[in-house]
Amino acid sequence: MKIDGKTKLTGIIGYPIKHTLSPVFQNAAFKKAGLNWAYLPLLVKSEQLGFAIKGLKALNFVGINVTMPYKKEVIKYLDELSPAARIAGAVNTILFKEDGLVGYNTDGQGFVESLKKQAQFSPRGKNVLLIGAGGAAKSIAVSLAMAGIKRLIIVNRTPQRAQRLQRLIHDNFPRCLVKVLAVNDENIVSLQSENHLIVNATSVGMLSNPGLPIGMENIGRKHLVYDIIYEPAETRFLAGAKRRGARILNGAYMLLYQGVASWQIWTGQSAPVATMAAALEAEQNLKGAKNNGKSKPATRKNSNRF
Ligand SMILES: NC(=O)c1ccc[n+]([C@@H]2O[C@H](COP(=O)([O-])OP(=O)(O)OC[C@H]3O[C@@H](n4cnc5c(N)ncnc54)[C@H](OP(=O)(O)O)[C@@H]3O)[C@@H](O)[C@H]2O)c1
Repeated sequence: MKIDGKTKLTGIIGYPIKHTLSPVFQNAAFKKAGLNWAYLPLLVKSEQLGFAIKGLKALNFVGINVTMPYKKEVIKYLDELSPAARIAGAVNTILFKEDGLVGYNTDGQGFVESLKKQAQFSPRGKNVLLIGAGGAAKSIAVSLAMAGIKRLIIVNRTPQRAQRLQRLIHDNFPRCLVKVLAVNDENIVSLQSENHLIVNATSVGMLSNPGLPIGMENIGRKHLVYDIIYEPAETRFLAGAKRRGARILNGAYMLLYQGVASWQIWTGQSAPVATMAAALEAEQNLKGAKNNGKSKPATRKNSNRF
């Protein structure tokens, strides 16, 4: 990559930041598109967040991604929010414009886009079971409701959090039916046959938090099962769903398409998605190999990979 006086800058702020995969595929996309742009990982401490945002604007950054733990806190420094960012109360993409800072939420948008592009699944009119009610689940729920799903069932370990998300969706999307069930509610099993899409948006299944988010009974061929975790590439939940004949997607697709949407917001161009996917896959293969087999390396044989 050539850096010179004309290079336009983008990046990602968070704490910690060393595990981010975004620079690899964002920079690959700039190169493929022939843009003299660069994307940098930027470690920002909590007490420095406001200074960092002002500094990035002063340094003429075109835009940035925002990751944990600042997706909510960063909002107070922005001038304008996209509808999804406003409703979800979370921003993962900022565009530095001459007349102000605009915040977007491409996490949920990326999730919905990946459903369409990777599974030819249109959310309109569908029934969805969403496991989790944290930040990622909220962004996904908002984008699914915006995309016109018919019914959303939320299952979460802490019921109060699920109820807050239920109210948010109900208040903003009154046509979407929203129900909350406890993790051990036996209706989850009986309602399973009515769901088209089942999403794990909890951290259960990560290498540090292994396990199953819900029981697998009644998950089968008619379901699309999406686990937004991408390390490991195939969680126990996805492996079980695949054995039962369900179609599966892993979180690398959400990661990829949120990045695609951010790239398009900054550049105003269509992103080279295949290049970004290949760069992400190569990086994950590398990480899988480094994990000494704890995380399955990506191969073309893993049907949930690129
Ligand atoms: N693919 C992507 O692009 C992408 C993007 C963002 C996040 N993610 C992944 O999504 C997951 C959630 O992230 P987040 O930002 O939403 O985190 P978060 O706000 O902390 O929410 C965590 C969620 O997981 C649940 N949970 C955690 N440990 C649990 C346990 N032992 N048993 C049952 N439920 C448990 C929490 O339930 P309670 O409410 O009961 O605590 C909550 O619903 C993480 O694995 C993250 O890596 C992926």
